[in-house]
Amino acid sequence: MTSRQNVHIEGDRRTGKTSLVLEVCARLRNITLLHVDFMLVKNIDDMRGRLVDGLSKVSLHAGVFERLVKALAHLRPTVSVNPATGEPTLSVAPAGDARPDGKSLVELLEFTRAGFSGKRPVIFFDEFQDVLKIPNAKTLLAILRSSIQNHHDCVYIYSGSSRSDMDSVFRDPDSPFFKSAIPVPVGTIERKDFVPFLIGKFKQGGRTASVDIINALLDMVSDNPGDSQELCNCLWETTENDATLVSADIENALSLIFAREFKYFEQVIDSATPIQKKCLHGIAALDGVGVYSNRFFELTGVHNPGTITKAIKRLQDNRIVHSSGKKLVFASPFLKLWLLRNPHF
Ligand SMILES: Nc1ncnc2c1ncn2[C@@H]1O[C@H](COP(=O)(O)OP(=O)(O)O)[C@@H](O)[C@H]1O
Ligand SMILES: [Mg+2]
Repeated sequence: MTSRQNVHIEGDRRTGKTSLVLEVCARLRNITLLHVDFMLVKNIDDMRGRLVDGLSKVSLHAGVFERLVKALAHLRPTVSVNPATGEPTLSVAPAGDARPDGKSLVELLEFTRAGFSGKRPVIFFDEFQDVLKIPNAKTLLAILRSSIQNHHDCVYIYSGSSRSDMDSVFRDPDSPFFKSAIPVPVGTIERKDFVPFLIGKFKQGGRTASVDIINALLDMVSDNPGDSQELCNCLWETTENDATLVSADIENALSLIFAREFKYFEQVIDSATPIQKKCLHGIAALDGVGVYSNRFFELTGVHNPGTITKAIKRLQDNRIVHSSGKKLVFASPFLKLWLLRNPHF
């Protein structure tokens, strides 16, 4: 980043991409970070709203809020006060009938570049793959790219949790962003480091955790750092000081997670067709492999490969599962663990 090289952070959800960028930026001094989260962004208006929101926060911090309001006068900005923080926030009217194009986005990026020049602006587009889903995404990406490539005084960081989508942006020769940023992979933490680290943390709080217990816990969440953290946190909350942790404690901790996430599970189940539900149970039982095997047919009662393909495609489109290598992986490992314990749902 200090060499002004644009980067794209690759890694599955909850591997720590956002945390990494925020932590690095917090440590580097004299940086102005504009963090824009594009998760589930719907259209260009929505993108623009999120950029304005990020800009509003960073401008306030840098004491250039009024300049921002003036610069965006043509977008009919509204200033309101956030009741929680008492700070002013800025929003702009949707473009409405005016055919939205990428111009207003480019203007906002220009404002960031010019307004914070000399303050080392870092523009962080988080969950960038969701931009691909908006109408006219291809044209928009081309417009953005042609503007960004002239921003030599800004660093752009793109992060996204969908590897295939991020690949189509940065690794496809037909994409305007092809090779425009250096890939930085963020993955799981190696067990040789993570296991002693976690044992040490539990010990500090008076809990004794064996290597086996920690390994079992990490197996459950496939070593995902964010999910490990959540499970460890619940394990902490559900055990007493001086406890020696056993398997039943992990089950208790899981029950707490299930209770917290039940709304999500219910939503997944309610929105799935009966065949999709059977496939979900089958995928959970076979840990994401062999979905055309006899075992899968037996488990699910679905025998037609075409039907299975269609159901899985829908589950992928709805981001309930995704493929990772040859395996189908649940977006939430806790959903998988819950399905295994609740076959009747
Ligand atoms: N190195 C790490 N070790 C343990 N937990 C981490 C680490 N990095 C992030 N986390 C935790 O994991 C969760 C997900 O991190 P986040 O940065 O939001 O992931 P991502 O942006 O990849 O989806 C957060 O709760 C965060 O506190
Ligand atoms: Mg993130």
